[in-house]
Amino acid sequence: MSNKTQTVLITGASSGIGLDVAKGFLERGSNVVLNSRHSEKLASAAKVLGGGEKIALVPGDIGNKETGEKIVRTAVERFGSADVLVNNAGIFGLKPFLENSEDDIDNYIRINLKGTYFVTQAAVRQMKQQGGGSIVNIGTVLIMHSMAGLPASAALITKGGIHALTTSLASELAADNIRVNAVAPGVIRTPIYGDMDVDTFGGVALMNRVGEVHETTEAVIHLATAGFTTGVILPVDGGYVHGRA
Ligand SMILES: NC(=O)c1ccc[n+]([C@@H]2O[C@H](COP(=O)([O-])OP(=O)(O)OC[C@H]3O[C@@H](n4cnc5c(N)ncnc54)[C@H](OP(=O)(O)O)[C@@H]3O)[C@@H](O)[C@H]2O)c1
Repeated sequence: MSNKTQTVLITGASSGIGLDVAKGFLERGSNVVLNSRHSEKLASAAKVLGGGEKIALVPGDIGNKETGEKIVRTAVERFGSADVLVNNAGIFGLKPFLENSEDDIDNYIRINLKGTYFVTQAAVRQMKQQGGGSIVNIGTVLIMHSMAGLPASAALITKGGIHALTTSLASELAADNIRVNAVAPGVIRTPIYGDMDVDTFGGVALMNRVGEVHETTEAVIHLATAGFTTGVILPVDGGYVHGRA
């Protein structure tokens, strides 16, 4: 990346992995444009991050195409560029294959797949004009290693699409100096697990523990800044993809 202050666009930045990625980029001196659906959650995230001129907030559902356009427009108006996009917003849930309704499938497609696609389209339009950029998608290691006890076909067909988007855009956009990579998290301690005791999942990883958000942030920042790396899907999973069982 150049020495110029980078502007980093992060979807789903009000909590968990996205919030910590925002913290990591702010610590590097970047400007950040934070998105999530709920403005009150975004406002408290900005407070947790210390507030200030380097943070812009764009509430909105990424499933609506205008949200991506608004995120990019805000980045350009406030900070003059859109250098890094972290496509982190997403939903996930467990439900046996035969129980998924058409509404379930539509919702995953609308948010995870179409949302990610159109936020990326808006950002790439701007990155091409600027002469380059970097995109880091958040997928899941469950695409590389599924589990009988975790029936998640509805979520995973869309997360798999995010992995496919990563490699196909890496090929298509390299000539435009735009790199596209993904982090595939294993079990990372975030609010996505609600009331569940997330540590009970630790045993599935070779490292025999769950991951912490700073560990996904390290990988996101590495991929965002690794100038000769594109098309990589990097598991951050404590070795889950190789399995203990
Ligand atoms: N934690 C894990 O173990 C794990 C493992 C594999 C993959 N992941 C992936 O990592 C990403 C982040 O998850 P997390 O664990 O950090 O969960 P989280 O704490 O629940 O955070 C999800 C974030 O996404 C936002 N969001 C949800 N739907 C949105 C939408 N339609 N438009 C805009 N923002 C939206 C949420 O805020 P609002 O409610 O305000 O919209 C929140 O900021 C997800 O894509 C998830 O699938 C997580």
